[in-house]
Amino acid sequence: MREELKRIEADALAELSAVTNSADLEELRIKFFGRKGLLSTVMRGMGTLTDAERPVIGKLANEVRQHLTNAFEEVGERLNRQDREKQLAAEAIDITLPGRRPQLGKKHPITQTIDHIQQIFGGMGFQVADGPEIEHEYYNFDALNTPVDHPARDLQDTLYITDEVLLRTHTSPVQVRFMEKHKPPIRIIVPGKAYRLDYDVSHTPTFHQVEGLLVDQHVTFSELKGVLQSFARQMFGDQTAMRFRPHFFPFTEPSAEVDISCTVCSGKGCRTCSGTGWLEILGAGAVDPNVFEYANYSPNEVTGFAFGMGVERIASISYGIPDIRALYENDLRFLRQF
Ligand code: PHE
Repeated sequence: MREELKRIEADALAELSAVTNSADLEELRIKFFGRKGLLSTVMRGMGTLTDAERPVIGKLANEVRQHLTNAFEEVGERLNRQDREKQLAAEAIDITLPGRRPQLGKKHPITQTIDHIQQIFGGMGFQVADGPEIEHEYYNFDALNTPVDHPARDLQDTLYITDEVLLRTHTSPVQVRFMEKHKPPIRIIVPGKAYRLDYDVSHTPTFHQVEGLLVDQHVTFSELKGVLQSFARQMFGDQTAMRFRPHFFPFTEPSAEVDISCTVCSGKGCRTCSGTGWLEILGAGAVDPNVFEYANYSPNEVTGFAFGMGVERIASISYGIPDIRALYENDLRFLRQF
């Protein structure tokens, strides 16, 4: 039995030295240490030994077992280390490679334009207000002094939801809504969406406006001119000229359409301004006394002015966009230019 133990020990060590991976090591462990393994088989033979031999062989058997256990452990550790190194090498990241730049999103040109307009009027003390896009015809028309037979109420222009509820055709209804809730003096701008049945190079069914309303005692038309002149110069440049053309809006009296000198030809006349030298940018006027009545303000105590501009129009002038429908096509090649 002594020889057998010695042989098992030598065989195990020899086979161990040839092991190259954890799976083979485990197989070998079972071959020698398993319940039916070589060592166990020998140990089961202990019963046949004499009383004198048993302690001697027992001691030897323990020594062999201990020796082999240590040897297996050592090899196991070495293989684990190897596996880890292999894994680390496989997962290595080359930090010298150039990085991939993530694509950053940015604000849509319409939003950029609204931000800019807001910033300019903010500098003149205007606060931002808003109101619903789904509007009652009372606020969109009646309270703005727009009679039932006015062409603006026509189904051809206005998107109705029911007989009395519609998608607002302008941001002006917020004038009355705001005056109902606040006492004068007020000074607001209202950026927002509006809707009209219209579609061509300069119109989309959904579009944006910025409304302005200033109400106080003794407000005059010249203050309207001053505010708009200041806006135009900040928005389009110091050299921008401005002109008021008489016009009609039901909710302002007197009313005007306001043009700026063409930003392309500086007023000489070109294709952009159809040879006129001027570009229309907004509608404006002194608040009609009837509108004050609807809002429960006394027309004898306050005066004011209002204006409304199309954001797409302002954006197309600032950026030189010939067809404003491009603003809604979400073509990244177009949008990345802003
Ligand atoms: N609401 C008018 C429009 O949409 C613009 C406007 C606003 C005109 C305020 C005068 C005063 O055309």
